[in-house]
Amino acid sequence: MTGGTGYIGSHVVKLLKDRGDQVVIVDDVLTGDRERVPGTLIEELDLHSPTSVDRIVSLLQEHEIDSVIHFAGRKQVLESVHRPAWYYQQNIGGLANLLLAMEVAQVAKLVFSSSAAVYGSTEGAAIAEDAPAVPINPYGETKLVGEQLIARACAAFELDAVSLRYFNVAGAGSPELGDRAVLNLVPMVFEKIDQGEAPVIFGDDYSTPDGSCIRDYIHVQDLAEAHTAVLDYLQSRGDVGHETFNVGSGTGTSVKEMVSAILSVAKSNIVPRVSPRREGDPAWVVASPDRIRSAVGWQSRLGVQEIVESAWRAHELHRAGAI
Ligand SMILES: NC(=O)c1ccc[n+]([C@@H]2O[C@H](COP(=O)([O-])OP(=O)(O)OC[C@H]3O[C@@H](n4cnc5c(N)ncnc54)[C@H](O)[C@@H]3O)[C@@H](O)[C@H]2O)c1
Repeated sequence: MTGGTGYIGSHVVKLLKDRGDQVVIVDDVLTGDRERVPGTLIEELDLHSPTSVDRIVSLLQEHEIDSVIHFAGRKQVLESVHRPAWYYQQNIGGLANLLLAMEVAQVAKLVFSSSAAVYGSTEGAAIAEDAPAVPINPYGETKLVGEQLIARACAAFELDAVSLRYFNVAGAGSPELGDRAVLNLVPMVFEKIDQGEAPVIFGDDYSTPDGSCIRDYIHVQDLAEAHTAVLDYLQSRGDVGHETFNVGSGTGTSVKEMVSAILSVAKSNIVPRVSPRREGDPAWVVASPDRIRSAVGWQSRLGVQEIVESAWRAHELHRAGAI
């Protein structure tokens, strides 16, 4: 697994180890944390470096690895706008090196962390995988190009792969695994609460029931379970080629509803502030999760309340210095 010390990867490490699978992590630990995955072998390596190919081949062979889950990637949209070449070097360079190594070591199963960012400004209450994919920032482009590269590799050598397009990931499967980066709505609202400031709602004049944007929140524990289900699918099916699956709940939650759920769990009476719309924010972005449900049998179980409560518990422990 690559990127296994990160927020999402560490949830999957825990699930795999709980069911008895052997896990080896390749990670530069720049945004990850070793403490999230105690007792797991971690090879510290920057995947984009050309010398990483030989090292990955050795690891794949030495540990007789039969499947790879590729989480490692830079994921800050704004940073990708300012450093596009670095995002391509990191996200595409890293993936290319991994594929080169997998081909040499004849490892034929891959699960790739893609993103709903591939859809760009495509909007809808049930976005299916065949909706137009026109990313609007370099981060989203690296995910789409990554999928295309994987599809080419599947056609070129014996590789079966699934790209999972995550929607809005939040929550914590256990408190020590929470998301510590302040990049998404839930941690951003937590930060405002800690600072005693009003959380900001960008735009309340969209054509949605309460005027704020609608998104599809997926509990990270559900997302982790999607990965183990897809691994089992790849191992049992064979000859899959390349498939893309949305991973979302299929349920839309407005920014206002989400902020209000967070304030209520945090027992805060701060009143949110409404600011003008941000450029490039579509009104509705909700997944159709039908394809993964019918192909793999996975569907989300946990709702917004569980997401917010688990994230707040993790945040409180982290704030108290307990983790
Ligand atoms: N968190 C989300 O909301 C979200 C949504 C959609 C897609 N994704 C994708 O899921 C994946 C995991 O996200 P996360 O939230 O766990 O991020 P994270 O930053 O917590 O974890 C990523 C891990 O990969 C490592 N990494 C990154 N680039 C690397 C490289 N070149 N070489 C070696 N290690 C490297 C980081 O140091 C980190 O440990 C990413 O690819 C991200 O783009 C995340």
